[in-house]
Formats: sequence, C-alpha cells, structure tokens
Amino acid sequence: MKLFRKLLLVSTFISIFNCQASDIAIWKETANGVWTITVGKPEGYNLTNELEFTPKLDVINSMGVSKIPIDKEEIKFEIRDGKTYIRFPLDSLEQIYGLGLNFKSINQRGKVKRLHVDHFSGKDDGRNHAPVPFFVSSKGYGLFINSARYLDIYVGTGVRKDSKHPAIVRDRNTDKKWSSAPYSDNLEILVPVAGVELILFTGENNLDVVRKFNLYQGGGCLPPRWGLGFWNRTPAKYSAEQVLEVVSEFKKRKFPLTVLGLEPGWMSGSYPCTYDWAKTKFPEPKVFVKNLSDQNIKVNVWVNPGISPNSTMYKDIEPFTGSHTEWCGVIPDLKMEQAKNILNNHLKKTLLDIDVSGLKLDENDGYDNWLWPDLATFPSGITGEQMRQTYGSLLQSTTNKLYKDQNVRTYGLVRASNAGTSSFPYVLYSDSYNHKEYVTALINSSFIGVLWTPEVRDAASGEEWVRRMQTVCFSPVAMLNAWADAKKPWDFPEVEKEISFIANLRMQLIPYLYTAFADYAFMGTPPVRAMNLVPNFDVKENIIAGKLDGTNNPYAIATKKEMNNQFMYGDALLVAPFFTGEKDRNVTLPKGKWYDFYTGKLVGEGEVIKITSSLDKIPVFVKDGGIVPMYPTISTLTAEKLPLEIRHYGQKASTYSLYDDDGNTYNYQKGEFTRINIEVNIDKKGKKIGKVIIPTGKKVWSFKQYDFHFMTDVE
Ligand code: GAL
Repeated sequence: MKLFRKLLLVSTFISIFNCQASDIAIWKETANGVWTITVGKPEGYNLTNELEFTPKLDVINSMGVSKIPIDKEEIKFEIRDGKTYIRFPLDSLEQIYGLGLNFKSINQRGKVKRLHVDHFSGKDDGRNHAPVPFFVSSKGYGLFINSARYLDIYVGTGVRKDSKHPAIVRDRNTDKKWSSAPYSDNLEILVPVAGVELILFTGENNLDVVRKFNLYQGGGCLPPRWGLGFWNRTPAKYSAEQVLEVVSEFKKRKFPLTVLGLEPGWMSGSYPCTYDWAKTKFPEPKVFVKNLSDQNIKVNVWVNPGISPNSTMYKDIEPFTGSHTEWCGVIPDLKMEQAKNILNNHLKKTLLDIDVSGLKLDENDGYDNWLWPDLATFPSGITGEQMRQTYGSLLQSTTNKLYKDQNVRTYGLVRASNAGTSSFPYVLYSDSYNHKEYVTALINSSFIGVLWTPEVRDAASGEEWVRRMQTVCFSPVAMLNAWADAKKPWDFPEVEKEISFIANLRMQLIPYLYTAFADYAFMGTPPVRAMNLVPNFDVKENIIAGKLDGTNNPYAIATKKEMNNQFMYGDALLVAPFFTGEKDRNVTLPKGKWYDFYTGKLVGEGEVIKITSSLDKIPVFVKDGGIVPMYPTISTLTAEKLPLEIRHYGQKASTYSLYDDDGNTYNYQKGEFTRINIEVNIDKKGKKIGKVIIPTGKKVWSFKQYDFHFMTDVE
C-alpha cells in the first residue's frame, strides 16, 4: 500500500472551502474514477497502510473515465473540536449499500451506525464482523473513509435546519402521513479525529464502483482450487485417531471432502493458545497431515489471538505484545515487524513446514469483555481502538504473507475484517446462526470487499439441514462446522440423498466458481453478489407502514422489504434459496430470458415469477446464453485432469472465458495461467455448435476433454 502513494497525483484541485485554510480538502484523481480527498491532517495509521497489497491501477485505468455524479460543492467538510465532520447530499430515491457486514438489511438509508469491529450485535447498528467504512450509492459512486477509528454515520437520518430539500412538518395528531423518520437529504459522517483520507470511486454502474474499490485494495483473492470443495471441521477435543475415523467415514460414503478443520484441541493448550501441537492427541502431526494429504485432504487449524505463557514462542513474543490479554494470553502487536516475524516463524515451523494448508483466525472480533478494552496500549503506539478496528486485517495480511513467501496459496477463515482485505484469502463467519441473516450477510459481503460463509452447524429438522446446506454450497466456503456437536452431513437420514446431491453439485461447479474467483482476483468482480449490483436491474423496495404499538413500536417505525433472498453466483447463475417452512416464493428475474438450471426450461423473462418449493433442489436460474463448465461427480480433487461438461442454456450464442492454472501457487501472478475460450454459435438451421479454443502454446492443468450439453432444446 505504501507503494500506492508514490503512484498518486494525476490531477489535483481544491474544491471545498468549509475547512479552515490549513485544513483545506484537496481532491486528486489518482486513477480513472478514483478520487482521493485529504481532509485536515489524517492520522499516520489508517485501515490500509500496514496491509500488504498492491492496488491494481492498470485495471482501474482500463475501465474508462467517469464523472462524480454529485455536485462537489454540496459535499461539506469541517474540522471542529478535534473532529472531522463530513456531509454528502442524498437524493430522494437514493439508496445506500454497504457500511459493514449487515445481517438484517440491504439498503442502509435511514440507519444510524457506529462502525465498530465486533461480533454481530443483533442489530445493523455498525457493530459487526467487518464494519468496512465503504458505501455504494445508487447514484453511481462509492465512498471509502480510511480511518481506523470508530466512525459515526447518519445515513439519511439527520434533518438539518439548512436543508435544501426540507422535510414537511406534519402533525402526528392529524396527519396520517406523519413519519417518525422525516425526510433527510444528507449522509453525515463524524470521524473522531482532526483529519481523514477519503477515497471516492465512480463508474458506469454500481458493480464498476465496487470493482474499483476491490481493485484499489489489490483485487480479490484467488483461493487454491481445493478451497472451493467441501470442508468439515471436527469437534474441539478430537484426537488424530478420532479425526481419521471421521475422514474414513466420509471416504466410505464417497462424500466430498477437500478440507478438514481442526478446532482448539489440536493445541497443547487453548484459551489461551500455545500454538503448539498437543502431543497426547496428535503424537505425530507430520504423519497425520501427510496421511490426509495422501487422501487429497488439506488440514486447516483453529487459533485465536491470545498466546499462552505455556507456548514455546511466549518468551520471544511477549515484549511485543499489548498491555491487556485475551483469556490471559498476550496479544502480539501486529504493527511491529518483530511480532509478525516471531509469529510467522512459529507458524512456519509448526504448521506450514508440515503442510498445514491454512488457519481459522477466531475471536479477533470482540464481544467486548473478551478482547482488550479501548484503553489498552500497544508497544507500537497505536491505540486500543485502532488495534480493535484492524486486528483481523493485520492477522490476514501477516499470515497471508507467510504462505505467499513460500509460493503456496492458502484459504482460511477469519472472524473480523475491515477495509483493505479483499486480496487476502480469508472468509468471514459468525457464532450467530439465523439462516435468513446468513443469506443477507452473503449478499451484503459483495458491497464491501469481503467474503462470507453461512456455515452449517446444526438444525432442528431435516428440512432446515437441507436448506442450510444448499445455501452454504452456493457461498465462498462450503463448510460443516461440527466443532461443538459432532454433526455429520448424513446425520438426518431422511434427507441424506438431498445433502449428498448438493455437496456433489458444489464439487461439480468448481470450474465455474474458480473462474468467478479469477474474475474477482483480476477484475475485482465479487463472485457472489447482490442483485443491486446487477447493471440495469431495478430493485424495488416495498415499504411496509409500521403499526403503532405502545411496547414494540411506539413510533410506528416502517420496515422495508428488500431483495435479501436472491443473489448472483458468478455471471450466469441466479440463486433463490428457500428457508425452512416456505412453500413458495417470488423470484425477480433481471432483463432477458432465464432458464431452470436443472432442466434447461424457460422460466420467465425480466419478470417476477412464483416458484414452489421442493426439498431436493435449491432454485437456480441461468441467463440466456449462460455457459456453465462442470466437473463430473468427484469427492476430492487430485492433480489428475478431468473431463469437462460444458452446459449451455437458452437460445443465445455466447462466449465464456474459462480460467485455469496450477491451482496451488502464485505463479499465476507471473502470467502462468490460461483462459480457455468457449464459444457457442448457432447455425442457420438453429443448431447450436460448441467450440473450445485453447490459445496456442498455453498449458491446460485441469481438463482433458470437453463435452457440450445444450440444456435448452426448444421453447
Ligand atoms: C468459536 C468459533 C467456533 C469454534 C469455537 C471453538 O468462537 O466461532 O466456530 O471454533 O470457537 O472454541
């Protein structure tokens, strides 16, 4: 990121004069449609400057020129009492997305937030696992507030006396239109320090804005191919023997398994953590990992930040830790090179050298009484608050570097994140467990440059088990986290068939998902994304008037019905999950014709359709001309090349750029990858003809034969 500063300065002009002369805000267009604004004197430490990534300015610059869609004079800045006040204008129909990993709502207009890293608070009030201070406006711009402080954001709630579009004064006694949330025409931000850097992104549409935000952070991550298979975490206290028994049960049932996750019991002590193997349970860790690796299964291990006095790295790292502990374990100050090196050397020796594939970075988000309080100090001099806002990001950056230095890709889990992390191969999760909220979070993750897994742990019925498995298999990590109750995928015998169908489908879709991730890595396009990011797709919200109720809703606050139950999965697929108990549901199809993924039949065209539930399948629709490359049914991934089924849907001729590389190393960043061009043409008689073009001299790692399957015959 430091390198980025040197690349700055394309054009500069001063446009805002609300600040004192010395605090003038200056706009610089640093790349096409990327504007940085420095207000006052920003702090030396922000959300991104300690993270290891390189912005992809060349890709941003190839995206064309765009203008800021609001009048810059309407954006106000002020430094007052050592704090920064920022105001952006809002139009009456403008919607605001992002501002953290929200679990309950998509459009954030009307919300008051304090962005604060924490476990999900139960409300969309800014306390969550990834309170990224970035919003996307439906007007076609995005704003990133690069401060590692707790930020207060009033998203169209403050009603100002000097408003240009004042709210109508209404009498609650007589006027039925009275609302507890009178119209507000601004979004206000309070940064609790005297200066901040803002980065404004513009593009042709919301998706371009998000892409630029991701590219500015180095693009998305490209997980190793095995990371996109099926994951299972075993109970916290299991020994090597018990874990191997679970694995052999998976094998016996031919149930997919590519990653096995060990929970706290792999260590000689946890809460606080030793980060050393428990020799009693895992007498020969190297042999254990090799055993799994011989079965094409990767091992991922759990850790949390507090390092135990019983750890073999304790003495070395202790001088570089903060004033407070987590469960009596010291917290490395990850702004310090010494702390990073000691931690990484230990991880290398203990884990990486024996081929452990990655980490689950747990409990770095909070629950206030577990992590350090804000008054904690750290030897590098950054405050407890700044450390809280960035600890998850620092852990991702540090551990990602460890793997990258060995030229090995990792894919792991993390419970806290923030801006600047999109290129790090980590996926967020939570201890909360509401299925609908998990899907809302999946949708919201696409606005803010993070990944999310709606992991499965347990269910009250076979139906719920299936519904949860279906959504997790259409997410960045398809995982059963059985750390607490030893659940197995086949534990609900009445739905065993459905569970195995969806896990197998996940494996079959790896070539398609891997390509979607390559588009994330190279072009910043999120692999799973909100309908609000589909260009030209008009998301209509349905406002439901609040009912007056003296206990629960004394101000008759209205609620919104939004598009929180369908999302895009890559470019071609629209997923519309069912939740337990639902018998039918509506699906809003974007423009053009859409087809059923399973049958290839036409389902509708740019309209709202009603579908009825069947337990065996999660509804998935494919756009006209959609091409979906699929593996055969497999339960692990090996180095062997596989035949590829290429499905084509609808009647449109189309092309698809299938991505392939070695699946494991960073050589792709040096150009060692291949884009295989797939074409479907339609001849004069209406016959579809498929063609696969491998550029001359380019290597193919994963596929050995290509069979077209035209899913739609006649309509
Ligand atoms: C929780 C975490 C769980 C599991 C558990 C182990 O905090 O969210 O997934 O890892 O710790 O103690």
